[in-house]
Amino acid sequence: MTEQFDVTTTEHVIVPGERAAYTAVFDEKVRADAREVIDRYPDPRSALLPLLHLVQSVQGHVTNEGIEFCAEQLALATAEVSAVATFYTMYKRNPCGQHLVSVCTNTLCAAMGGDEVYKRLGDHLGVGHEETAGTPGEQGSITLEHAECLAACDLAPVLQINYEYYDNQDSTTALELVRALQRGEKPPPTRGAPLTDFRDVERQLAGFFDGPGAEAAENASAAAPETVRGARVADEHGWTAPAMPDHAELPPRPDDK
Ligand code: FES
Repeated sequence: MTEQFDVTTTEHVIVPGERAAYTAVFDEKVRADAREVIDRYPDPRSALLPLLHLVQSVQGHVTNEGIEFCAEQLALATAEVSAVATFYTMYKRNPCGQHLVSVCTNTLCAAMGGDEVYKRLGDHLGVGHEETAGTPGEQGSITLEHAECLAACDLAPVLQINYEYYDNQDSTTALELVRALQRGEKPPPTRGAPLTDFRDVERQLAGFFDGPGAEAAENASAAAPETVRGARVADEHGWTAPAMPDHAELPPRPDDK
């Protein structure tokens, strides 16, 4: 689909002869889903983040057509939608594989072997950051990316596949995971919901729990025993944090000193 996207005027024009293809992708079902998402919010523009996930569930990434779709649904300028879609790393501007493998290479994971994990997977797949091995969307295709801290430092090094956690990895176990994905298998995550495909998870992130694995995802607990151990010990001993005072003396502001 050929498009012209002019950020200076915020006009995004799908060539008239190709309007039919655009309408076929964002059909009545997708439009009904979009209306359901929008109805959850008092102000329609608040629905932009889940709508972008809905677009990714349909097309596997945020296309220019997807940006126009969101803009139309929310009465926003395409430049406004584009600004959001290019700010957050969970919105992909290039076609994503069946699976998205995110390797944490932030400080703690990197020190614990995350860099080695990322390098081994990159060498095996022959791709770099945000590149895809295989044909995007087809079975066994894998997009690899560096990830910033995945909030599981106590289980470092960690990686995620379609945002499900695989804790305490090393380069050998991570390579086994990726090989399993390439064989069409769905290795179970360490915790949380069962593994599905990138597009299925995007639909869940849009708030629709009607696809493969969705019921289990809705009821899954992602808390690792290591992470909640402190809270459990405190519970067993009856320890609680001191109550917050009704009135707390605040330190003086710098210019009041
Ligand atoms: S540094 Fe990897 S999860 Fe925090």
